[in-house]
Amino acid sequence: MLRSGLWKWALPGLLFAVLSGAAPALLAEEPRVVSPTVPYVPTPQNVVDRMLAIGKVGAQDYLIDLGSGDGRIVITAARRFGTRGFGVDINPVRITEANENARKAGVTDRVSFQQRDLFEADLSQATVITMYLLPRVNIALRPKLLDLKPGTRLVSHDFDMGDWKPDEAARIPAPDKYGGSGGESDIYLWVVPAKAGGSWRVTLPVSGKPQTYEVSFEQKYQFLGGSARLGERITRIDNARLRGEEISFGFTLDVNGAPLRHEFSGRVQDGRMSGDVRLSGSRVAARVEWNAERGAAPRTP
Ligand SMILES: C[S@@+](CC[C@H](N)C(=O)[O-])C[C@H]1O[C@@H](n2cnc3c(N)ncnc32)[C@H](O)[C@@H]1O
Repeated sequence: MLRSGLWKWALPGLLFAVLSGAAPALLAEEPRVVSPTVPYVPTPQNVVDRMLAIGKVGAQDYLIDLGSGDGRIVITAARRFGTRGFGVDINPVRITEANENARKAGVTDRVSFQQRDLFEADLSQATVITMYLLPRVNIALRPKLLDLKPGTRLVSHDFDMGDWKPDEAARIPAPDKYGGSGGESDIYLWVVPAKAGGSWRVTLPVSGKPQTYEVSFEQKYQFLGGSARLGERITRIDNARLRGEEISFGFTLDVNGAPLRHEFSGRVQDGRMSGDVRLSGSRVAARVEWNAERGAAPRTP
């Protein structure tokens, strides 16, 4: 069964691309997509409601819908929660409809609609971005989305972001494109991760004595791995998680001659990290503060 109305539009194009040998180019990451990129298929209202719930959209948010159609996502958020924001759509007919719908809903003081290419939109104000586009458009947008403020929520109807796995996903019953029952919609949520990859000098007190560790993170999207070093002792990091600015990770290393478990939680902000670390070992059980700066710790000769 085809879950999405948009797939029905996208499939003939994909089939043509495969048959004509253009598929590798179509499926490759594209820096820019020629407009207009996506046909108009409105998101069913129950899916709009669930998208806003999964994105935890509230009064404090600024929501931008990329390819806003008749404006229903932005207008629903403004009407229900008082959310501010705007929609962009390449099609002037959609912009006229969206402005009319905003007027009828009494939310023109909080929302606006701009006729423009979604790739040209200024997204810097967004705390939430919603999308009902196509896979290749999501992937072309990915670098711009990853550069948004850490913590910005991205909610997509039906299409994922390739190898950038979502933080949450849901499949819900939805009317099909022709208003019939028995369809399904996928909803995906990503939280833009802070940039944590690279080397950090992590400082914390152990039994009252400051210790500086060299922690190296390898980051792919919100996923982290890496290693921690103290003097000549080195170990792998485990249980690393990054959600927006929030980071947590752990490791076990010998400190003062005995294995010591370290469980960090904290935030990555303005190129620094700080938070609490729980220490547990045969001689130590404590919760202390830690902070980190970029750069490698000095090595003992
Ligand atoms: C699938 S509809 C989604 C509409 C609305 N967001 C919703 O979920 O109900 C995609 C919309 O994107 C618009 N669109 C297509 N290409 C665009 C582009 N390059 N820039 C801005 N809007 C575009 C279309 O006009 C259409 O209204």
